[in-house]
Amino acid sequence: MRITVKHQVLLAPATVLLLLSLLLAFLCYTYWDLSSKRQEAKAIGTTFVALAEADMAARRLHVIVRTLQFTGMANNEELALLADLYDRLTAAIERIEPFGPLHKSGEIEQLRQLAADINPASSLEPENTNELFSRFRSQLSALSNITQIYRNKLRHNQSQDINHLVEQTALVTVLVLALAILLGIVLSLYFGRRILARIQLLSDNAGRIAGGELDLPPAPDNIRDELDALAVSINRMTKRLIKVVGTEKLLEGAEEERRRIAMDLHDQTLADLSGVLRGLQALTAKSKDQEHSRRAGELEQDLNRAITNLRDIMNNLHPQTLDILGLGAAIEAHLDRHCSSTELPLYHLYIDPRTSELSLDRNQQLALYRIAIEAIQNVIKHAEASRYEVNLELREKLLVLAVEDNGRGLATDRPAEQGRGLNNIRERARSIGAEVGWRSSRFSSGTRFELTLPLP
Ligand SMILES: Nc1ncnc2c1ncn2[C@@H]1O[C@H](COP(=O)(O)OP(=O)(O)OP(=O)(O)O)[C@@H](O)[C@H]1O
Ligand SMILES: [Mg+2]
Repeated sequence: MRITVKHQVLLAPATVLLLLSLLLAFLCYTYWDLSSKRQEAKAIGTTFVALAEADMAARRLHVIVRTLQFTGMANNEELALLADLYDRLTAAIERIEPFGPLHKSGEIEQLRQLAADINPASSLEPENTNELFSRFRSQLSALSNITQIYRNKLRHNQSQDINHLVEQTALVTVLVLALAILLGIVLSLYFGRRILARIQLLSDNAGRIAGGELDLPPAPDNIRDELDALAVSINRMTKRLIKVVGTEKLLEGAEEERRRIAMDLHDQTLADLSGVLRGLQALTAKSKDQEHSRRAGELEQDLNRAITNLRDIMNNLHPQTLDILGLGAAIEAHLDRHCSSTELPLYHLYIDPRTSELSLDRNQQLALYRIAIEAIQNVIKHAEASRYEVNLELREKLLVLAVEDNGRGLATDRPAEQGRGLNNIRERARSIGAEVGWRSSRFSSGTRFELTLPLP
């Protein structure tokens, strides 16, 4: 199982965070344990003081009760003192906080019971008084002993506990921090290297493709993470690039072939025809027969027409104006020569003068020329338009070629016809990195064909 790049990146910080959270939980538990022990020590202290106060009040109460029983009379002041002492005694008992062994032992309940027995408000029998007080005080002293013993034990343990706790906490903290740092570094290095190695491979492949080596880079069968997706994209891009380059080469080859045929026609066929024409002209000049001369003149005219047609064909195969005058002039020459007849729709041509300064290579010029010619031919053949516009202009960093007519438009309801023109336009455009599109024209009807070529 492979961990995705996102998780590989997150693994190291997540591990460090988890260890730090565990450390925090441990420190919280330690603090909670310590504070509960402190709470218990405080309860023991309060109880110890309360027991001492209760004992003092009981002793004084006992002396006064015995005196009054002996004299047999008591004034209001003495009665108030008795009540006050007894109140202090009960208040002290109420302040006793149960801790450790006193929890649920019943000792405190028993003390409360004995305190109720020595209440001076309930008429105490003189013969029972001493015994009741001594039972109460012995219970007090028993509780005091328990408290004292427990307090000593706790003090001893606590000082040991705190030392142990400090040592343990420091050790655990250092260990966990060291482990977190170590794991963080190891995981980051391990996954970082793995990711970097894969990125390096992808970057090498992309660099090779950019350098013109069109070997198909490997692509994983399954996409398991983002880098796999990138590898698949690079692979697909290369496949498409190979196709485009193939088309480009094909077009280049076709252009070269057209150039060769045009040259052959010029150097061979045209030269031959010119030779025949010269021979015919010589024959006509020598001939005395009128009928013969007329026939020869007609043949001469036919031959001249054939030569002109052949020149047109040659120019179509390899437009020389393009080489000599550039793209704008070549389009203008074509329109002038082939599209100016009165039966054909009217055209308006606009060539941005700045386009003549562009340094387009021969391939781009040829592609743009052929695309323009095909778009114009389509208007003449299919649009049933009365007029159309041909524009070649610069828009910021774009060269825009547009052919716009006022014809019937590219209807989607008509069945697609089997022409090659539109496909050729698309392929030629792709081979030079241009984009093409057809949409409704700005006239009331018709089509606008537009090509945009980004300029460097
Ligand atoms: N300007 C236009 N106005 C109206 N319809 C058009 C226009 N341009 C193209 N079309 C339509 O698109 C179809 C395809 O054109 P495409 O150039 O591919 O083929 P074609 O011109 O019929 O044949 P080919 O170009 O191979 O000689 C045409 O048959 C026509 O119906
Ligand atoms: Mg066409």
